Amino acid sequence: MVSEYEIKKQICDIGKRIYDRGMVAANDGNISVKISDNEFLCTPTGVSKGFMTPEFICKIDKQGNVLQANPGFKPSSEIKMHLRVYEKRPDVNAVVHAHPIYATSFAIAGIPLTQPIMPEAVIALGCVPIAEYGTPSTMEIPDHVEKYLPYYDAVLLESHGALTYSDSLLAAYHKMESVEFYAELLFKSRQLGGPKEFSKEQVERLYEIRRKFGMTGKHPANLCLNKESGCHNCTGACGGDCAGKAASDDKADLIAKITKQVMEQLGK
Ligand code: 13P
Repeated sequence: MVSEYEIKKQICDIGKRIYDRGMVAANDGNISVKISDNEFLCTPTGVSKGFMTPEFICKIDKQGNVLQANPGFKPSSEIKMHLRVYEKRPDVNAVVHAHPIYATSFAIAGIPLTQPIMPEAVIALGCVPIAEYGTPSTMEIPDHVEKYLPYYDAVLLESHGALTYSDSLLAAYHKMESVEFYAELLFKSRQLGGPKEFSKEQVERLYEIRRKFGMTGKHPANLCLNKESGCHNCTGACGGDCAGKAASDDKADLIAKITKQVMEQLGK
């Protein structure tokens, strides 16, 4: 089992990666990891996430009460947003919040990332909706993000930044990289006259690859198993559209998990 100290070091490493890649400025961004049903490690508020050491990292419970923090350190001001993700998504073990330039520009312009334009973005992310603006550090952000949590693993925060989460810290971080890369491609291809979008058939073939890989998490490939068009070009609002699909979502998750196990046993 990985020790708590080791996880604190991993949080510092990911903090350095988001800072070094310019995904946060100054003291922005925050990271958390679930270590048991009622214990979470998180970055402290008001420090540069690029220069943390394990002593900076705070431990809290699921109500946000501090279980351990060294003198001078308090949990992130956005911890309520992280805790809402863990509450609504029991499959999630890590959450990353950052302000990457391109993704945040789309969030500021109010444009969700929904155009199917390159295979990796379609397979890894599907669509990235925008949660309505909320004042930082208040309950407005968790309240606005909540409706997207059952359907997506990455959400833009209107006029603010991006939020990603996954079953491991590295996967949550990679999701942030993927969101930013997708947003940059979308921005630049728009400058070149507009991206050429995949057809429905091309999107469905990419969804099929995702299902075959048994990739976990929430994604239109799983949510919309029986839908012809999936969620792309749904203008980012298919949190509502897919609501009735929750049952098929659970089934799809199970299929994904079983497929993954079979593939692992076959050594693929
Ligand atoms: P904290 O330093 O309190 O985590 O806040 C940083 C931030 O980016 C708020 O959105």
